[in-house]
Amino acid sequence: MLMANLLTLLIWCSYVVYISRVLSTAADILTTANRSIRDGETVVSAGGNFEMGFFSPVDSKKRYFGIWYKRIPIDPFVWVANRDTPLTDSSGVLKVTDHGILVISNRTNHIIWSSNISRSAHDPVVQLLDSGNLVVRNRNEGNPEDNLWQSFDYPCHAILPGMKLGRNIITGHDWYLTSWKSSDDPSPGDYTYRFDPNGFPQEFLRSNSVVQFRSGPWNGVRFSGFPQQKPNPLIKYGFVFNKNEMYYFCETLDNSIVSKVVLTPNGMIQRFIWANLTGSWNAYGNMDSCDRYGLCGAYATCDINNLPVCVCLRGFVPKYPKHWKRTDWSGGCVRRRPLGCENRDEFFKHSGVKVPDTRGSWFNESMNLEECRSLCLKNCSCTAYTNTDIRGGGRGCLLWFGDLIDMRQFTETEQDVYIRVVASELESPDPAKKTEIKAKARSNVKKRTRVVVITFLLITATLLLGIALILYKKRRKKQIRRENLGHGPRSNNESRKEDLELPSFELAALAAATNNFSVDNKLGEGGFGPVYKGMLKVGQQIAVKRLSRNSRQGLPEFKNEVKYIARLQHRNLVKLLGCCIHKEERMLVYEYMPNKSLDYFLFDEGPSVLLNWPKRFHIINGIARGLLYLHQDSRLRIIHRDLKADNVLLDYELNPKISDFGIARCFGETESTASTNIVVGTYGYMSPEYASEGLYSVKSDVYSFGVLVLEIVSGKRNRGFRHPDHCHSLLGHAWTLYMEGRSLELIDVPVKDSYNTIEVLRSVHISLLCVQHCPEDRPSMSSVILMFGSDGALPHPKQPGFFAERNIYETNTSSSKHEQRSTINEFSITLLEAR
Ligand SMILES: *[C@@H]1O[C@H](CO)[C@@H](O)[C@H](O)[C@H]1NC(C)=O
Ligand SMILES: *[C@@H]1O[C@H](CO)[C@@H](O)[C@H](O)[C@H]1NC(C)=O
Ligand SMILES: *[C@@H]1O[C@H](CO)[C@@H](O)[C@H](O)[C@H]1NC(C)=O
Ligand SMILES: *[C@@H]1O[C@H](CO)[C@@H](O)[C@H](O)[C@H]1NC(C)=O
Repeated sequence: MLMANLLTLLIWCSYVVYISRVLSTAADILTTANRSIRDGETVVSAGGNFEMGFFSPVDSKKRYFGIWYKRIPIDPFVWVANRDTPLTDSSGVLKVTDHGILVISNRTNHIIWSSNISRSAHDPVVQLLDSGNLVVRNRNEGNPEDNLWQSFDYPCHAILPGMKLGRNIITGHDWYLTSWKSSDDPSPGDYTYRFDPNGFPQEFLRSNSVVQFRSGPWNGVRFSGFPQQKPNPLIKYGFVFNKNEMYYFCETLDNSIVSKVVLTPNGMIQRFIWANLTGSWNAYGNMDSCDRYGLCGAYATCDINNLPVCVCLRGFVPKYPKHWKRTDWSGGCVRRRPLGCENRDEFFKHSGVKVPDTRGSWFNESMNLEECRSLCLKNCSCTAYTNTDIRGGGRGCLLWFGDLIDMRQFTETEQDVYIRVVASELESPDPAKKTEIKAKARSNVKKRTRVVVITFLLITATLLLGIALILYKKRRKKQIRRENLGHGPRSNNESRKEDLELPSFELAALAAATNNFSVDNKLGEGGFGPVYKGMLKVGQQIAVKRLSRNSRQGLPEFKNEVKYIARLQHRNLVKLLGCCIHKEERMLVYEYMPNKSLDYFLFDEGPSVLLNWPKRFHIINGIARGLLYLHQDSRLRIIHRDLKADNVLLDYELNPKISDFGIARCFGETESTASTNIVVGTYGYMSPEYASEGLYSVKSDVYSFGVLVLEIVSGKRNRGFRHPDHCHSLLGHAWTLYMEGRSLELIDVPVKDSYNTIEVLRSVHISLLCVQHCPEDRPSMSSVILMFGSDGALPHPKQPGFFAERNIYETNTSSSKHEQRSTINEFSITLLEAR
């Protein structure tokens, strides 16, 4: 408080000194009489936030008159007057005429730019307000609405809080953005972002006249295509739509926030928030490929979490199936069966969408959904309807006629649209159901019931499987007993012949290689047993994992699993060379990685210096690819269940290789979302649903991956993370920083001079998406890879699971023994609980 006051005082003092020197007036007002701003002079707004004067962009000699943030060194410009007519020397002068017109003149007193007013002025004054608005008003008129002229009415490339983006219907005045030509050339570029009043109004981003992106109509809460415009404590968004005006506006609810929306020279519409501590602009809501206008053609939706991204709507099929398969979706989809019209048509509800292009639409804001539906049914060319306003259960009626274009699937919006199809389409089973179920599974509305159904099916399936297994085992035991009685134990040779494919090692050979499993050779211990380093007689170095003896699986199944897992080959996976089975003893033999594991590099001050940012980013990407291979690309679907820094090994070139995968399979676990009574994993990496309920799925691995990425960025362990200011876990800490736009503060000291801001911010953002509390919210690994590979928009992460780490001990640790053990040696814990 005191600091703030002092600061204000300081600014105020310097400001007063400044004004008296340059303008010798008592207020922040330039009067007409003899007042001017010459090149070299600047005027500061009363609150000290903005400054105006002549400037040259970096790398340019041209001079412009503009307004910029006073205390922000990077991309500070928010408005430029003479965009088209720069000065070529520093002789510019800005003056106000007696009529209240602002003029800029050059060396020869030639006017190169002027403002425009329609009213007559009486003793006009000019003022740079602390909102960044440059206004001309009559001295005796205090009403801000009565400005003769204001720069806010002539937006350049940026929208500041308090500005309007839209249209005055009465005067036709259009508030819209035009990009700069390039980052050092403020002249109008190719891109514009402006309202289109046809149908239900929307904003369009155009390159020259070609539509690139559509915001979608305002639905009472946000633009339909901007799910990130959520109600939040920092910024309030709004839309005014009446018979005089339609415009979008935003306000910052916290005065310390510096925020602007910019149409960038490369055609992106982005919100930026200034992160003072890191001294950079943080972008919110990047655009992605699904934002490309009409990417999927008519009657299709784009889902960035899907591969391929385009899917036909229910009841529609690709118009050109061949092109569609080759990912040329522009032909769109067509009805499988023609509309019946009137009584023979029905509507199906499509949830979580960006509604189709509304340029040809019709609306009435006082009708309800039922009236809307019957109105749509009456007109055979009406193809869809929805509410105009989704607040409070929805109201208003919006009708579409003709093709439905540019829809997109979101996970986090509650907007529905009702799409017309012939009734028989809804009765008969749908051949395209599979893809639709996928798309529909994302809608929040029916998710709950679906989860129940799926869980039920899974439980049934698991039960059936269990029964089958028990029967099988009984049969098998009998058989073995019979065999044993009849022929005696089978010789080792015989069984090896039988499994020619199985890479198999003799126990004696491994014992010799590992110095009889001596403590000196022990590399560490994972959830399934200790690992030893060894050297085979042929000189090959190996790592031997000795599985602890609680496998519930029979020998043949175990061999089978090892055979399959040995076939998994990916450059980001440690290679399984084979196994060793001797009586009760089971061992897995891996290639040896000389460079230790990632945790050694990450959490030790010495070696951590070796990992600069490019190497760390390379490692993150490698782990993601390895995990994707396990989850999806290999023939088996493998859930790792114990992904952590200790299980990521590094080769000579510091390429990451995931180890310890597939071992859960060797213990006879089925690999899908399932509940297990053996919880294998490591505190700090375990997802909430796994740690507390033993529920695991690929999304539990995604969670662990998210934790790992945060550890790689920060160089801190999630487990045991302590911060002097709060008691959040590393995840909670990262999320808090992210919410405050200070994600860069996370980065590890050794990376400070090698990091790439965009990569770091993206890594943190993606990791926060991965560690969200609900598994359904987390992206799949394929989406993660896509997110790393593109610079498209990312959804806003929800609060992570285990926001404060302490929870996990209080709620989930049934015995303090486990906690102790894992605190001391940081190894995996295996919780055996009967459920
Ligand atoms: C000034 O306003 C007039 C009519 O109001 C318009 O024709 C003219 O183009 C405007 N000039 C500028 C520079 O905006
Ligand atoms: C940023 O922080 C510094 C002190 O750390 C302060 O002087 C400056 O006014 C701040 N800038 C903004 C734009 O808040
Ligand atoms: C909108 O619907 C209401 C209720 O049906 C009706 O009274 C009103 O006239 C309609 N307005 C327009 C512009 O059609
Ligand atoms: C159906 O709506 C379209 C578009 O508004 C209109 O041109 C057409 O006349 C309507 N047809 C009927 C039968 O109302």
